[in-house]
Amino acid sequence: MARKTLEDLFIYSLSDIYSAEKQLTRALGKLSRASTNPELAQAFETHLQETHEQVARIDQVVEKCGLKLKRIKCVAMEGLVEEGEELVDEIEKGPVLDAGLIGAAQKVEHYEIAAYGTLCAFAKQLGKDDAVPLLKATLDEEKATDQKLTQFAEKVGNPQARQA
Ligand SMILES: [Fe+2]
Ligand SMILES: [Fe+2]
Repeated sequence: MARKTLEDLFIYSLSDIYSAEKQLTRALGKLSRASTNPELAQAFETHLQETHEQVARIDQVVEKCGLKLKRIKCVAMEGLVEEGEELVDEIEKGPVLDAGLIGAAQKVEHYEIAAYGTLCAFAKQLGKDDAVPLLKATLDEEKATDQKLTQFAEKVGNPQARQA
């Protein structure tokens, strides 16, 4: 796909994150099932529900702005998901795997935060006023999820919490 204009780049970037979110709708359930800590498992389930809504928000952006998404695969997310799956294959279920899953999930959130931050900036520059609040809503959800994961990381890293 030729990416000559900011509009082209916006459509490409939106198509890329659309692919990323779709991949996550399949991966988050696996992360939840691999978690030992029930709160962590629940957090992955909650974010799975949010991710479905995020996919729907991209559909709304497409509709409101009259865009056509490209059929591309987000290879960055493919790699991040693959690394998460490697952890599940290699580490037995327990607090160490939980710590690994939190780290893998935070890499995903940081990728998404970067992607939606960029999309918000592009949408503003392109005057796509209908798209900005939708993209911002998802950006805020990704940030909140990242913060929640940071809190889990601190708990999992705390031996007293681990024994409890
Ligand atoms: Fe997402
Ligand atoms: Fe996310």
